[in-house]
Amino acid sequence: MRLNQCHNFQDFRLLAKKRLPSPIFNYIDGAADDEITYRRNTQSFNDIDLVPNVLAGVENIDLKTKIFGKKIDMPIFCAPTAVQRLFHHEGERAVARAAEKYGTMFGISSLSTVSVEEINNIIKTPKMFQFYFHKDRGLNTNMLDRAKAQNFDVLALTVDTITGGNRERDLRTGFTIPPNFNIYSLLDFLMKPTWTFNYLTHEKFELPHLKEFIKEGTNVMTSIGSYFSTMLDQSMNWSDAEKLCAQWNGHFALKGIMSVEDAKKAVDIGCTGIMVSNHGGRQLDGSRAPFDQLSEIVDAVGDKIDVICEGGIQRGTHVLKALSLGAKACSGGRLYLYALAAAGQAGVERVLNQMRNELERDMKLMGCKTVNDLSRKNLRFRN
Ligand code: LAC
Repeated sequence: MRLNQCHNFQDFRLLAKKRLPSPIFNYIDGAADDEITYRRNTQSFNDIDLVPNVLAGVENIDLKTKIFGKKIDMPIFCAPTAVQRLFHHEGERAVARAAEKYGTMFGISSLSTVSVEEINNIIKTPKMFQFYFHKDRGLNTNMLDRAKAQNFDVLALTVDTITGGNRERDLRTGFTIPPNFNIYSLLDFLMKPTWTFNYLTHEKFELPHLKEFIKEGTNVMTSIGSYFSTMLDQSMNWSDAEKLCAQWNGHFALKGIMSVEDAKKAVDIGCTGIMVSNHGGRQLDGSRAPFDQLSEIVDAVGDKIDVICEGGIQRGTHVLKALSLGAKACSGGRLYLYALAAAGQAGVERVLNQMRNELERDMKLMGCKTVNDLSRKNLRFRN
């Protein structure tokens, strides 16, 4: 299988599986406990049907939307995800450049493998910094200052990783950052010589936002689960989030909001957006899917802040359904991560191009010319 044979999410996933050592593929591909929430995130889109209108003169489609005060060319963006140089040696650089090419937002993680300084040098399009609230207050202040100095447009505080999710695939494969080359995992790495060659011949793995403050992740191997459980501050509360929002003094989102109560509190503390998300099913298995929760959250706060739907999106029609319910935009992680792993920047460009084509085609078939034409009138719940 080659890149030009990848036509959808599942194709990219299979190519990624072919390219990546098993611990790394399963880190992306896996989720918490029985992975029920992970699967439900995508299935939830299938419980609602689209009802198209016709004869709408759809030769020109405008996919633009505005989130966090910035125009983006299509209503889906690259969610911040960690350690991308493990998936492909170009890492965050590839995703940032591809997002710029398609005029959409790029989110970078606190646990990224390329720095905010470098990202600010390479792209001019809107960018989000994802913030993990660490016990180390010096680290928190430093990350905030760096993101501000590098003109990041949005700060997104992740609120659903207060402790590590139970990712059993990672326990089985022994996935750590940096990767652990030991007698047990050696075969996994040797079976993927191209990945291993690239990993060993490019710049050393590090986490540039954390390395001056903590050894874990850069010089000391750790699992993501134990990183969350030991490095992040479990006492984090609404007052901390409010202070961070005030300190940032710009567009601010909470990432991982699932309830109406919390969405309303987000408005109260000054957020300009929320990302309705369950962390790709990687934290609380059994949690409801973001798409299932979307309408009640939009009804409560959709006229006050930007509501982003994140999780399970594999198709243009998924995005159109979320927008019809009132989301301003969607974001996806695995959506582009398999493509990154499959072929670096070219892979991410291909996936974004396909998404744009799907969105345009599906808008035409729906009889909608702009994203504002999408509404609940075009949806019906099955049952
Ligand atoms: C994860 C974090 C790092 O889900 O976002 O693995």
